[in-house]
Amino acid sequence: MRLKGFRIRQFAMADYNQVAHIWDVCNVPSPEGRREVQRRIERDPDLFLVADLNGTVVGVVMGAWDGRRAWCHNYGVDPQLRGQGVGSALVLALEKKVEEKGIPRLNAMVRKSDIASEGFYQACGFHKEDWQIMEWNSP
Ligand SMILES: CC(C)(COP(=O)(O)OP(=O)(O)OC[C@H]1O[C@@H](n2cnc3c(N)ncnc32)[C@H](O)[C@@H]1OP(=O)(O)O)[C@@H](O)C(=O)NCCC(=O)NCCS
Repeated sequence: MRLKGFRIRQFAMADYNQVAHIWDVCNVPSPEGRREVQRRIERDPDLFLVADLNGTVVGVVMGAWDGRRAWCHNYGVDPQLRGQGVGSALVLALEKKVEEKGIPRLNAMVRKSDIASEGFYQACGFHKEDWQIMEWNSP
């Protein structure tokens, strides 16, 4: 069954508490604080999208563009409303924005153990690439 009556729109700082709640209930590994979110929307405000159901945020995807590739970060949908097309509506809207900006690639980092997200991204038109992620952390 598809959820009716929600719309995809750009994130506004006034949504922060609701978005933080979605990240919390989705166990997003490194939830962003208010300061990081403020910094994020100084860069690509149009790529940070929420699903809004009658004024309530029920899903989020934080898009980013590093100048070469666009990325899907910190995505999640209210666990009560999964499987009804909200997540794919968010990612498809992000794909459209990325295309409109002339950015040729949209990537997502998915943990090898996260089979659900792998299936989800494949349903949204992504394919698997044989990369591994290397990370440096500020000491
Ligand atoms: C992944 C997630 C965003 C999907 O959201 P959703 O609203 O349930 O997704 P949709 O209903 O739009 O599903 C679209 C398609 O994705 C696929 N899909 C969704 N959930 C899936 C799952 N658990 N396993 C396999 N495929 C799945 C299906 O093919 C589905 O198509 P269908 O509706 O025709 O069956 C949601 O499950 C979620 O929030 N998971 C936790 C996210 C997370 O860990 N985020 C941290 C990353 S930083």
